[in-house]
Amino acid sequence: MSLKGKKILLGITGGIAAYKCASLIRLLVKQGAEVKVIMTTSALDFITPLTLATLSKNPVLHDFYDKGTGEWTNHVSLGLWADLMIIAPLSANTLSKMANGQSDNLLLTTYLSARCPVMVAPAMDLDMYKHPSVRTNLDRLEEYQVIVLEAGTGDLASGLSGKGRMLEPEEILEAALNHFDNPQTLEGRTFLITAGPTQEAIDPVRYISNHSSGKMGIALADTAAALGAKVTLILGPSSLSPTHPGIEVVAVTSAKEMYDAAALRHPIADVIIFAAAVADYTPVTTSSEKLKKSGSEMNIPLKKNIDIAETLGKSKGEGQFHIGFALETENEEANAKEKLERKNFDLVVLNSLRDEGAGFRHDTNKVTLIKRGGSPIQTEVMSKTDVAKRILNEIPRSKA
Ligand code: CTP
Repeated sequence: MSLKGKKILLGITGGIAAYKCASLIRLLVKQGAEVKVIMTTSALDFITPLTLATLSKNPVLHDFYDKGTGEWTNHVSLGLWADLMIIAPLSANTLSKMANGQSDNLLLTTYLSARCPVMVAPAMDLDMYKHPSVRTNLDRLEEYQVIVLEAGTGDLASGLSGKGRMLEPEEILEAALNHFDNPQTLEGRTFLITAGPTQEAIDPVRYISNHSSGKMGIALADTAAALGAKVTLILGPSSLSPTHPGIEVVAVTSAKEMYDAAALRHPIADVIIFAAAVADYTPVTTSSEKLKKSGSEMNIPLKKNIDIAETLGKSKGEGQFHIGFALETENEEANAKEKLERKNFDLVVLNSLRDEGAGFRHDTNKVTLIKRGGSPIQTEVMSKTDVAKRILNEIPRSKA
């Protein structure tokens, strides 16, 4: 696992450990992350923006607006841009402000408006770190789902020795890598996933279908359930089945059955993943008797099936997050973006059949993730389970 394509916002507050941020940025960038830095005023006393801007290859942000041009720094879009915000070192002062919703600098307004996970690495003197008010503030951040990287033990700037040292850059990097490798817990979330092909009956012995194995949707169901989600998998005909015992599997055959099963459960789900390869057309009539052969040609009139994702996309409620797939062979990104809009997806997972090791029947997949308003992120070829983890990482931490 690397940080390729990940956007990391590093918030630096005033503390001697701020000098270690130069190494931290270097490590993050080396892992493929794009890094932007926000500094508080007191952080400027410990390390220069020039050093950090050079290492991160981005201007360092500090003020609400540029005093020369009047240009405003949009903290809301910064918070939306990031996949992870790391605040290191976190001073007792900024900790207290974060715990109480104060917003008197760019770092704090960005923290308050960030929708991405936030990780903090506190650093302070040992007695400050032990103080009940600091402990209460750290507990409160944890209640707000902030990931707290507890300080380490060692020599402190005060000359004393004890617990209060900021974790080393390597340890913070490891926590970031682990975070993306093991997505957040999905405890309390309800997933509805369609997977596999559908079969559209021509007569009692023949049908129209496709080569979908259901592997990707099943991997998503197993991974989400392993992370604590309550999962219903609406599965078209497949020789495979999920392994997690907690998954409710609803076996269906046709697109119509898949739609009915999904529509029934859609209102109570908060993450809906349309991974099924639904047959686009179905025979106008299904013969109740086996069709006999006659003549040298045969035509079967077809009618369009209901588009499950598009139909349910129209009734997407507040707090529901819809993920769709797009299998494309040309103009991949443009077609995927068009589907994102038309089907009201929040995220579209683009599969290109041109990529080796991707798509139907493979154990591996290589995808491009296209989020509403975000730039596309391409993954390496990875196992479908790793792709599933990667996709689940894109789900907002709190309900959308
Ligand atoms: N989908 C669906 N119901 C359908 C067709 C598609 O729910 N009847 C969902 C798929 O599960 C997938 C997404 O819509 O998440 C895209 O499906 P795809 O077949 O790639 O796109 P289409 O809309 O069918 O467009 P086209 O075949 O023209 O590319």
